Amino acid sequence: MPVRPIQSTASLLQVDSILSHVTGLEALGEVCRFLRHEFRHFRWVGIYLRDAETLRLAAWSGPQATEHVTIPVGQGICGKAAREDRTVVVDDVRSAPEYLACFLDTRSEIVVPIRAGATVVGEIDIDGNEVKAYDASDDRFLTAVAQRVSALVQQVQPEIAAGRPPLRGGG
Ligand code: SME
Repeated sequence: MPVRPIQSTASLLQVDSILSHVTGLEALGEVCRFLRHEFRHFRWVGIYLRDAETLRLAAWSGPQATEHVTIPVGQGICGKAAREDRTVVVDDVRSAPEYLACFLDTRSEIVVPIRAGATVVGEIDIDGNEVKAYDASDDRFLTAVAQRVSALVQQVQPEIAAGRPPLRGGG
């Protein structure tokens, strides 16, 4: 289910609007909530922030919480995307030995780095319930979202590193 260019443009404007109206961690939660409600194939949306060699979940939206609120860089699909500084798409999580299971009905996953210059400062992690839910159009769209949230991620990073628990974006 690709993200069509016209839908991408409209949704990026919505993300800009959220970021201009909401501040701090609440804005990241609202971006997660918006993305999940806007795209049917985004069943669980989370934003992890990098704290040295650990990824810490900052905000999320989905039917249930994940037990993986911290992930070492290099472990799981999330850790792989951070270590290799690239988007990782898993078409079928049952064929990915490194996959860290969160939800019984997840079948595919996309993880897109959030960068500050050349440094990975976080990532957007999305789970889907169908095999091959994600393609290059999701990568392009989510990379544009990642660019937009980068400044905010750097702003809230100290709170998350200090132990603030993940925020659930409403709904
Ligand atoms: N599946 C991820 C862990 C995070 S959950 O999807 C929320 C991974 O393998 O890194």
